[in-house]
Amino acid sequence: MQRFLRPLAVLTTALLLACRPQDTAPVPLKDLAPFPVGASISPTLLKNNAAYRNVLSTEFSSISVENAQKWGTIHPEQTRFNFTDAETIVDWARANGKRVHGHTLLWHSYNPAWLTNFQGDSTAWENLMKTHIHTVVTHFKGRVASWDVVNEAFSDAGTLRNVEAKPEDGSVWRQHLGPDYIARAFRYAHEADPAALLFFNEFGQESNPAKLKATVDLAADFKRRGVPIHGLGLQFHLGVSQSENGLSEALRQTAAAGLLVHISELDILVSDWKKDPTLQYTDALQNRQSAKYKFIAQTYRLLVPKAQQHGITTWNVGDSDSWITQGLKYTDWPLLFDANYERKKAYFGFAEGLKN
Ligand code: GLA
Repeated sequence: MQRFLRPLAVLTTALLLACRPQDTAPVPLKDLAPFPVGASISPTLLKNNAAYRNVLSTEFSSISVENAQKWGTIHPEQTRFNFTDAETIVDWARANGKRVHGHTLLWHSYNPAWLTNFQGDSTAWENLMKTHIHTVVTHFKGRVASWDVVNEAFSDAGTLRNVEAKPEDGSVWRQHLGPDYIARAFRYAHEADPAALLFFNEFGQESNPAKLKATVDLAADFKRRGVPIHGLGLQFHLGVSQSENGLSEALRQTAAAGLLVHISELDILVSDWKKDPTLQYTDALQNRQSAKYKFIAQTYRLLVPKAQQHGITTWNVGDSDSWITQGLKYTDWPLLFDANYERKKAYFGFAEGLKN
């Protein structure tokens, strides 16, 4: 009897082992990709949602700070900085072995009212900019590996945002400090942490040739003048119908600038940026989105030389914490994970693109 039972027991154990759920889990994105894979994150979810933490620690190797380092959060009054939310994120990231990408030192948006209403001459404005950059970068020195120094400085015309038709599109920085404020911002950041990698981050390069040219020209100009810039960020907030040609061109021309290239805020809207509360997440849409995620991962690997690959970062983690569904209130499913942080078809498409 023993003779028969023993092989049976061995077989049963083998079968049980083969069916363990961890054996069916795919290789995490961070282990598939030859470069860092990131997500932008929120301190509230990090503290309160175990599934969110779990997917972050398993799948990602880099995190971007979603809102906690923007002026409105980190510098709420002229003489007061509030590092609490950013510390929550940076501490967690470091404890879990993740690279931290800081976001963002200067932007025209998300600024506190005291800053927008600040009265002062150009010297006073320069001092505000310099103090802010020095204080924030010094605070995180050695803990934040890279920074978006300036975000979205160009208008759709490919010229620097200045006074714009909609006041909220204008830039107080350009208005008060003249066109060369970007270069000075980079110098201030470099003074505060010479080891940090400094990025210029922009959106729309994939669909707006004038903006693409503007960012590439800025990089060339800074390199020529010895301004410390190390990388360009392509946000890639995309509609599912975004042309592949536009994406390839944006990556090709950005890579040709010779700096690091970061796909910095990736999401893919199946709504194609149309507000439609009746939209359904059909199989067909899921497949198209998955194919586009795959295309982006693949094209990034092919067109951006290894030494220039800063990585690909999605903007948020799951569909229900996306700024698209939460902030802008679109009916959409733009990310790799669903509302319960389960992997979607988009995830598997992206993973395919990372590995072959
Ligand atoms: C831009 C910014 C991000 C984020 C999104 C959504 O892409 O760079 O910080 O705020 O808009 O609001």
